[in-house]
Amino acid sequence: MMIITRASAMRKKTEEWKQQGCSTGFVPTMGALHGGHLSLMNEARQKNDKVVVSIFVNPLQFGADEDYDTYPKNIEADAETAGMANVDVIFAPPVDELYPRPVRTIVHVEKGVQVLCGRNRPGHFDGVATVVMKLFQIIHPDNAYFGRKDAQQAAVVQNMADDFNLSIDIVTCRTIRETDGLAVSSRNIYLTEKERKQAPQLYKSLLTAEEKVHQGERDVSVLEKVIHNSLVNHTDAEIDYAEVLAYPELETFSSSSGQIILAAAIRFSKARLIDNIIVPLRDTKKGEKQDVPDLDEI
Ligand code: PAJ
Repeated sequence: MMIITRASAMRKKTEEWKQQGCSTGFVPTMGALHGGHLSLMNEARQKNDKVVVSIFVNPLQFGADEDYDTYPKNIEADAETAGMANVDVIFAPPVDELYPRPVRTIVHVEKGVQVLCGRNRPGHFDGVATVVMKLFQIIHPDNAYFGRKDAQQAAVVQNMADDFNLSIDIVTCRTIRETDGLAVSSRNIYLTEKERKQAPQLYKSLLTAEEKVHQGERDVSVLEKVIHNSLVNHTDAEIDYAEVLAYPELETFSSSSGQIILAAAIRFSKARLIDNIIVPLRDTKKGEKQDVPDLDEI
């Protein structure tokens, strides 16, 4: 496994692979690699001849009061984790390699950002889209892998790929969880012991709402209240949002078919946690049980 820090060297490597007829799978990350990242790398490993994982804490996507300066960094441990997935290259550029000067051009996301995480993180998804576009331009992957844990991010990236006619397949992968249901996250280390005990309630609150959907509940405000109450009753966390929308449109849910996303974000003393469940719908009368598995379990 190679660690490359320069964009020119990275581009040269993937061009070389292309000339050899090899396909490239790409997993963008901010490091502090964990089981969630590993699952994306394993998926990329299975489906591509070569695999690149990027490790870059992107200043453009952090707000002024967010954890950019304290975001966990450990390249040695990350190299070990990437090695477990047999990754070919870690692309870990310094900040001034990707941003040698103040940015003059950004990718501005028009749709799907006034909801969920976008509402309280202005500019966040512009920052994500911009860095992902830059990484795509340097690496030119055939397939790029994103976690469904960040479902809004996956939708934004898919929209960008469609809008800009990128010839890259965006693959979304299921959420990896701890045994108690808490979604694995680089930010879980910020939780106090008490908060860690309460944190699985985030997923539980979504499962409770999902059960209501399967029983035929389609009233968004009822479903949002179920999530909200479950969090208020069982955690000390501040609720950032508890929201139910059509997915991947991220618009008000109005039809009886398609998919919905049940999503929530909560704030503990030092960690903001997000989670979601995407539920496929079919017409069900209230009270009639719908036998549809959670996509996460597939
Ligand atoms: P980061 O938070 O490091 O996440 C990198 C990828 O891992 C994302 O696609 C995310 O959805 C996925 N991921 C995180 N936790 C996961 C889990 N528990 N199960 C499955 N996948 C999980 O997301 C980013 O970095 C950045 O915004 C980035 C896309 C790299 C742009 O800077």
